[in-house]
Amino acid sequence: MSNKADPSRPAKGTTVPVAPVCTMVIFGAAGDLTKRLVTPALYNLVTAKQLPDGFRMVGVDHRDMTVEEWRKGLGDMMNEAVASRGGEFQADHIDQAAWKWLTDRMTYLAGDFNDPQTYVRLRAHLAEVDKKVGPGRAGTGGNHLFYLAVADRFFSTIVAALGTAEMVSEQDGRWRRVVIEKPFGHDLPSAKALNAAILKTLQEHQIYRMDHFLGKETVQNIMALRFANGLFEPLWNREHIDHIQITAAETVGVERRGKFYEGTGALRDMVPNHLFQLLSLTAMEPPISFDAEAVRDKKAEVVQAIRPPAAGRALRDAVRGQYDAGTVLGKAVPAYRREPDVAPESVTETYVAWRLKIDNWRWAGVPFYLRTGKYLKSRRTEIAIRFHQAPYTLFRGTQVERMNPNWMILRIQPDEGISLQFAAKRPGPTVTLGNVSMDFAYKTYFDMAPSTGYETLLYDCMIGDATLFQRADNIEAGWRAVQPILDAWAAHPAKDFPNYAAGSDGPASADELLARSGRTWRPLG
Ligand code: BG6
Repeated sequence: MSNKADPSRPAKGTTVPVAPVCTMVIFGAAGDLTKRLVTPALYNLVTAKQLPDGFRMVGVDHRDMTVEEWRKGLGDMMNEAVASRGGEFQADHIDQAAWKWLTDRMTYLAGDFNDPQTYVRLRAHLAEVDKKVGPGRAGTGGNHLFYLAVADRFFSTIVAALGTAEMVSEQDGRWRRVVIEKPFGHDLPSAKALNAAILKTLQEHQIYRMDHFLGKETVQNIMALRFANGLFEPLWNREHIDHIQITAAETVGVERRGKFYEGTGALRDMVPNHLFQLLSLTAMEPPISFDAEAVRDKKAEVVQAIRPPAAGRALRDAVRGQYDAGTVLGKAVPAYRREPDVAPESVTETYVAWRLKIDNWRWAGVPFYLRTGKYLKSRRTEIAIRFHQAPYTLFRGTQVERMNPNWMILRIQPDEGISLQFAAKRPGPTVTLGNVSMDFAYKTYFDMAPSTGYETLLYDCMIGDATLFQRADNIEAGWRAVQPILDAWAAHPAKDFPNYAAGSDGPASADELLARSGRTWRPLG
């Protein structure tokens, strides 16, 4: 097998059609999300030649500044990311021509999101922008993409105000789309209320609820792995799979987000959204096509099939942890309770592990173990599928005392790839087995263009492909599944916090969760 990508495969970007002419309006233009992720992603789309000449970008924020100041702020952040080689923007230099291409298309409008006048002015501003751009290719100019890079308390306010200012009705083939990123509610009632509020103004097809995990190539690859190969899918069920572990272990702490995190915790922050994305792509039934609705139907179904914990079992099936002081990647770090904006007696969890069952034909009896936490031993996001053990019978009377199960590991990040672990006979006259691994690493097969993970998602909004976005029912199904645990935890605040040292594998209770059925977590490193 050659260790190179198929040379007949066109290089990344060359066959991707240019997005339709549109103007992207970013609310929260001066904020962190715009600087750290959205602008670098747009820049990457420019270098990949995926944005049309008629693309325009309008920044809206309450800060009174000129467009030059806005551009400079964005540019400084890009340069800083290049210099430090930190963060999501992986480029080693900025292509000045591409950056100029983008900044030449930017305008800025200062305005309070709560003030109806902001929207009146924005409407006039957009009319001017559209007039200058002209109709574009085949009359496609005048499309507007509203990106809400703002705190979630503004979501429904902004959507309602856009409606009042008559900026979201789609006429003459011109589309209006709104991108909203998590947190999408804090529990089931608030998620329902938010959906109901925005659906008063927008139609479902106009709403792009974003989960950045779906922007990761390796997450998108789960479907390709399952459905583009004849080998795996026949094994992908309770007949062959013993259990599945889904891990999102982080080596970062709560950082400067104490205020947000205190009211959120690891369960809300990671499970109904990111981990359920991994779970649903892994466990969903094959859709009838890759059409957005077909895929989203199947994803919603699998989350709806999560069996709620039996009465009184929530505290047993899901365990929580909070980090104490410790050492992470060689650096001493404080306890969660000593972080800025965190209460000294805080009972907010920074770790969660959950054993859940999916109540359907394919997965009956197969436990799914989910875990995620801050300040753990190593950074690792993966889906580990453990197959049933082969019968030992044949090896009786040999030197093989124990057989190891087969694992298939989908490494989402870092070291993106897939490995299959199996047993092989050690060379020699006696029968003994060694564990070997067949490994596929993305970077050895494909040219991985620098990506923040937002490029595909932004591009998909522009071309109107909602496959990687969440429908209202997907979101509500996620919250419905975690609600019994949120309720049980609220009724029984943790008494043993902090219960794991920063830099460790997590709390002992997470190990006990698996030990009850004779299983163990895969080591974190
Ligand atoms: C965010 C959470 O949605 O996802 C963060 O709010 C978390 O707490 C982050 O660190 C993880 O994403 P990634 O892409 O860094 O794995």
